[in-house]
Amino acid sequence: MFIEAKQINKVYFDKNNKPNTVLKDIDLSIQKGEFVSILGPSGCGKSTLLSMIAGLVSSTSGEIIVDGKKVVKPGKDRGMVFQQAALFPWMNVTENVMFPLRKEMSKKEGLERAQHFLKMVQLSNYPSHYPHELSGGMQQRVSIARSLAMDPAVLLMDEPFGALDEQTRSRLHGQLEEIWIDTKKTIVFVTHSISESIKLSDRIIVMGTRPGTILTDITVDIPRPREQHRQQIAALEEQIMGLLKTEIDKVIDEEQAYEAGS
Ligand SMILES: Nc1ncnc2c1ncn2[C@@H]1O[C@H](COP(=O)(O)OP(=O)(O)OP(=O)(O)O)[C@@H](O)[C@H]1O
Ligand SMILES: [Mg+2]
Repeated sequence: MFIEAKQINKVYFDKNNKPNTVLKDIDLSIQKGEFVSILGPSGCGKSTLLSMIAGLVSSTSGEIIVDGKKVVKPGKDRGMVFQQAALFPWMNVTENVMFPLRKEMSKKEGLERAQHFLKMVQLSNYPSHYPHELSGGMQQRVSIARSLAMDPAVLLMDEPFGALDEQTRSRLHGQLEEIWIDTKKTIVFVTHSISESIKLSDRIIVMGTRPGTILTDITVDIPRPREQHRQQIAALEEQIMGLLKTEIDKVIDEEQAYEAGS
């Protein structure tokens, strides 16, 4: 197995030293080249789990293995894309994509690489633009190009299109799907959009909350491109909606109980 999470637990302690179990007994296996979504309500621990695969957050117990090696810190084999593109405002598009490559290769090679990946995300016409001159969707594409340019085996994406309008999001879905098919990357994609997860992934890991656990692991057996298979999409959407409703009700009940008690 390419990525493996084994019995992951994560406990945070608040200022009164009260434990908050965020992830409980998470077991997860992802094959090389798979596109896997992690779907669940806000606060269920999706970003925490993804950050652990990235090596940015440590677990309280359990371990994560990527390509046979235990994850202890971030590495070049794992690229991360966040909800907001974290670009350097004083660098133009090309310079932003080249920046992480500066120690890996010559400037000429870095430039060629940057151009290649900017083409892939359809930004060839904006090499000298600065981030503030780009739309949110374009900035996000620069940040995807920057991650891809490092040629990581795994692309970790935390709600990368969450801040974008519906049409831009839909266009980027198509582009990401093409990039995935072209580059054969393993993609772990965090979202709380059911339709996004169905549109993109081979598998959907549905998480429940308080504490964060894996409720089900669904294989999306709908041929690509998926848009044409409306009925199958709708049926799966309904199935997942049912699962998540119980979880969301749980959170609302707890919040109401908290408010009533305070
Ligand atoms: N550094 C931290 N210290 C304490 N608690 C934290 C920390 N990071 C996350 N948490 C808690 O862990 C839980 C899970 O957070 P996480 O960000 O992983 O959720 P999420 O599923 O990504 O939510 P969202 O969909 O809103 O992004 C939350 O209850 C959060 O308050
Ligand atoms: Mg999150």
